[in-house]
Amino acid sequence: MTDRITIRRPDDWHVHLRDGDMLQAVVGYTARQFRRAIVMPNLKPPVTTADMARAYRARIMAALPEGSDFEPLITCYLTDTTNPDEIAQGFETGAFAAAKLYPANATTNSAFGVTDIQKLYPVLARMEKIGMPFLVHGEVTDHDVDVFDREAVFIERIFSRITADFPGLRTVFEHITTADAANFVASAGPNVAATITPQHLHISRNDMLVGGIRPHLYCLPIVKRETHRLALRKAATSGSAKFFLGTDTAPHAIETKETSCGCAGIFNAPYAIESYAAVFDEEGALDKLEAFASLNGPAFYRLPVNEDSITLVRGGETVPMSIAAAGTSLVPFHAGETLGWRLLAD
Ligand code: DOR
Ligand code: ZN
Repeated sequence: MTDRITIRRPDDWHVHLRDGDMLQAVVGYTARQFRRAIVMPNLKPPVTTADMARAYRARIMAALPEGSDFEPLITCYLTDTTNPDEIAQGFETGAFAAAKLYPANATTNSAFGVTDIQKLYPVLARMEKIGMPFLVHGEVTDHDVDVFDREAVFIERIFSRITADFPGLRTVFEHITTADAANFVASAGPNVAATITPQHLHISRNDMLVGGIRPHLYCLPIVKRETHRLALRKAATSGSAKFFLGTDTAPHAIETKETSCGCAGIFNAPYAIESYAAVFDEEGALDKLEAFASLNGPAFYRLPVNEDSITLVRGGETVPMSIAAAGTSLVPFHAGETLGWRLLAD
């Protein structure tokens, strides 16, 4: 039995770092494990211009612990009025690493998102031409579509059209939650990839809802039934270069989770790589962890792989029940559990 694994330092291809005091409180958790991260733009107001992206990057850099070599990669929040020239200029000058589609009102701070994909077509055409990655929150928002079906319906109504109309567009289907999404990505062309979160590999909707409702397991897209979780585990550990690590860590103050209308988001940054390692171990696929965590993402983003490494050892610590942050507290994913792996300090 392997008791120790060393892999190239991983990157997190999907994080919410927030802003202000919360940014200050959480960025160190991501920077401790990951060398780079794709930072989501759903701030209030959202990051829609290259100037806003540069200013946000500077705030992240200022919030980093002393001596950190963490590199934030900022994304542009797409709206109905995004201008193709502006977004291209932001990409070419390095202000934006990618652009993110939030269908309007799909999730936290998405009110300014896109109302009709057709409105985005000139932007997508330009992104396809310049090779700018297109990141997708793949859920429809129609009131008549059940929340558990919103990802599958998005594939049918929207995603299949986008990939047919823009075959050269480098697209990431973010935080996939269904067998439908895993199959769609696997059978799409080489430009279509996906991120998978720790929670969608660990829990099903039963974990969230049976025996009491657990608000800290509520995120969007919502966790699905067990068959989907098993399909995601298979995809993540398959060795396919189309699937890579993206935690979707999304901190919300405890009082906004434990309330009559709680926020969506799981704060998984503190033990993210340990959480993934547990899954790969359970699947007998520890030899595939490095590709998923450290190689496939850079290949998709056309960035070099990291030169340094991390070591994980068997025998984990107990995850705290809560973590103090920004004058409140955050409940981390796996709170109170003991994970089977521990990240050795540098
Ligand atoms: O659960 C989620 N939380 N899903 C998202 O898409 C956004 C995120 C957040 O920003 O809190
Ligand atoms: Zn997200």
